[in-house]
Amino acid sequence: MCGIVGYNGSSQAAPILLDGLEKLEYRGYDSSGLAVRSGSNDIEIVKAKGRLRILSEKTDEGRALSGTCGIGHTRWATHGEPSENNAHPHISDDRNVTGVHNGIIENYQELKEKLLRHDYKFYSDTDTEVAIKLIDYYMKKYHGGPVDSIARAMIRIRGSYALVVMFKDYPDEIYCARKDSPLIIGVKEGESFAASDVPAILKHTRRVYYIGNQQIAKLTKGEVKFFDLDREEVEIEPKEVTWDAEAAEKNGFEHFMIKEIHEQPKAARDTIGSIIHEGKISLQETGLTDDIIAGITQVIIVACGSAYHVGMAGQYIFEDLARIPVRVELASEFRYRNPLLNENDLVIVISQSGETADSLAALRLAKEKGIRTLGIINVVGSSIAREADHVFYTLAGPEIAVATTKAYSAQLIAVYALAIQFAHVRNTIEEERYSELIAEMETLPAKMERILEDKERIQWFAAKYSNAKDMFFIGRGIDYAISMEGSLKMKEISYVHSEAYAAGELKHGTISLVENGTLVVGVCTQNRLFEKTRSNMVEVKSRGAYLMGLTSYGNYSIEDTADFTVYIPKTDQNFATSLAIIPLQLLGYYLSVARGLNVDKPRNLAKSVTVE
Ligand code: AGP
Repeated sequence: MCGIVGYNGSSQAAPILLDGLEKLEYRGYDSSGLAVRSGSNDIEIVKAKGRLRILSEKTDEGRALSGTCGIGHTRWATHGEPSENNAHPHISDDRNVTGVHNGIIENYQELKEKLLRHDYKFYSDTDTEVAIKLIDYYMKKYHGGPVDSIARAMIRIRGSYALVVMFKDYPDEIYCARKDSPLIIGVKEGESFAASDVPAILKHTRRVYYIGNQQIAKLTKGEVKFFDLDREEVEIEPKEVTWDAEAAEKNGFEHFMIKEIHEQPKAARDTIGSIIHEGKISLQETGLTDDIIAGITQVIIVACGSAYHVGMAGQYIFEDLARIPVRVELASEFRYRNPLLNENDLVIVISQSGETADSLAALRLAKEKGIRTLGIINVVGSSIAREADHVFYTLAGPEIAVATTKAYSAQLIAVYALAIQFAHVRNTIEEERYSELIAEMETLPAKMERILEDKERIQWFAAKYSNAKDMFFIGRGIDYAISMEGSLKMKEISYVHSEAYAAGELKHGTISLVENGTLVVGVCTQNRLFEKTRSNMVEVKSRGAYLMGLTSYGNYSIEDTADFTVYIPKTDQNFATSLAIIPLQLLGYYLSVARGLNVDKPRNLAKSVTVE
């Protein structure tokens, strides 16, 4: 949530900041702002409510602001409504400290009261203004430099933050501080950058530093130094970003989401390629040895949103193949409920960003209790990746659209690989079945490509039902997990009220909502459950529902019931999610387009939820 960019170099800062913010607009987009300075000149601040485009127009694409050092921000409101007043950057009363922030300062009221007692005035409703003024307060009280004042403020602040700050008396320097919110630093000759995420600076440099938790960075032109809370300098090794800058561009597609839907075969292929060697799964990179796997007695999967839905599918697959008990929990619940964990459990945290606040807190809780943790993570160097005992990196590349598609698909592959390997090590499947499953998993990318070739049918259907008000997705077993993700896609980008139901549960209340014309999607990829779900479809149809069926080629009898059917290629039933989700993603996408909505940046949402 919220996007931050900082630049310190010799070019004009404002256009660079605007360009970086555009790459981060997926993180928040209700208001934005820039603060730019040149040498010892005063800091100039411009803010705008609404999309970044408005800030860009207001500053003549950055040309109206002169200076080679600056910071910028796009906001996803937490404290205070979206308004120019609440937009960042925020500045202290005498313009000594200017800063932008991503995160939540939990004790901001208490800190604000303290500052009010010292005659500070407040012009916004934000917690950020409090943080900036607290730094100013400590600078004046102890007459220390920027690192000292920031460190003192960090000790008092409770919550999460990525802060990027400029000081009136320290021209050509930018300071950063981080706790539990993402922030990276990029450096090239004569220039340095700070950003919430790599795409913002990738066109300038691939040399990136992942600033540690509760650390401070000082950025001069082309150089960066890091400090801990004791103001001691610490060494951090830079990393080279390997992915292509083009991966974060639309490349001719109308939206990032449809581009990323098309990148799913590649995401799956790359992730499969990273763990299969000579027909066998190798988890060597994750550090999960066969001995460790053999000693695990229970798996707990913890995640949020779509990553949670991957966990739901994973539960069916793990238990079916590896015969090991699996619990799936929402991270926001798990972290506050004192869960029962045993020393031989494995807690798997699934997260695209690796920065989701609740997932990170869940990971820390498991670690505190001494439980082994594994992160299935897409963003290299993210907080969860750094803190988990083991990491399985999905190779989906940068995902920009708020609605996840390719990262979800890559996470599924990770879960399949783990389930198969657990089954192998625990001898719950024969050698032959092991090889069969691996071979079948390798066919998934080509099968995904086949589904994408047929996307026009879904586009037509979506256009026809673009006025839908309510939708239900029903299925049993893995099909229920698929339904949950299909339903979320519909809600988040198309704003259609939708619900996912375990088909057998419908009669226990929800069926009373079905009336003439209600759209119901019946997901029937599990042969054993096909007839069961089909009878539930008949039940809703007899109450007036319009039915879309989603099943595998061969199950043609569904046409006796469904009004419109989408077929997916046959695969092992455990892998059906990878194929069945694509038509549902396309349905959500095309419905959103048909309704004229902002597909990539749906209202009220942000790509990574770094606040709870
Ligand atoms: C899915 O489309 C959403 N954007 C959201 O549910 C997302 O999956 C969730 O916030 C978890 O994010 P993470 O994978 O980065 O932890």
